[in-house]
Amino acid sequence: MKKIGIIGAMELEVEALKSKMVINRRIQKASMEFLDGILNGTDVVIVRSGIGKVNAGICAQILCDVFNVTHIINTGVAGSLKAEINIGDIVLSTDAVHHDVDVTIFGYQLGEVPQIGCQAFPADPSLLGLAASVCAKVNPDIHVFRGRIASGDQFISDKAVKERIISNFGGYCTEMEGASIAQTAYLNQIPFLIIRAISDKADDSAEMDYPTFERAAAAHSAKLVEAMLPEIS
Ligand code: ADE
Repeated sequence: MKKIGIIGAMELEVEALKSKMVINRRIQKASMEFLDGILNGTDVVIVRSGIGKVNAGICAQILCDVFNVTHIINTGVAGSLKAEINIGDIVLSTDAVHHDVDVTIFGYQLGEVPQIGCQAFPADPSLLGLAASVCAKVNPDIHVFRGRIASGDQFISDKAVKERIISNFGGYCTEMEGASIAQTAYLNQIPFLIIRAISDKADDSAEMDYPTFERAAAAHSAKLVEAMLPEIS
């Protein structure tokens, strides 16, 4: 039986989903509240992880160990790393990489966590394909992109830092949790997808744009997650 773990870093990224679910149990762990129940006819556990990669990794591991989820979806907002990806658009992860990991001195690729065996963690192709087709139906006015997500424990709001991430990793968007969730899913051999709607351009305009657009962007992503749930196999 499928059971989908849904992680948002912030309350506004999961509040719409929580308000629509039937809650069977609430479990507190690691200062996070896990809501176990049904959304759109599907068994789900919805949780706000808190911001940043450590919170996200802890949260994803609890979903695996305590709730035995079969899939993990991360929903939320991100800063765009491509000129053609605009505020409100959606990026679906093909893979996710830590842009703030550097063990190149010992021969690893930039972004590669030592001794795991890959630089970036690949998302599940069938979740990716499903999200793209469902998005075209439920968010027909929004452009959907498939590409790499670059995560780090930094809010990117500086053009030079943004350019460095682009030239090092070729990412489509940047945020602060995805690669940790991807790494946890990879280590536990659970399919995952990161869905991020763009709230800002991760440059000097981000400080202004982010608070203006985060709520609407988060809603786009959550709407897609809700719609795709019954079709996950
Ligand atoms: N989440 C949304 N926008 C972001 C940015 N510019 N940097 C990091 N995380 C983000």
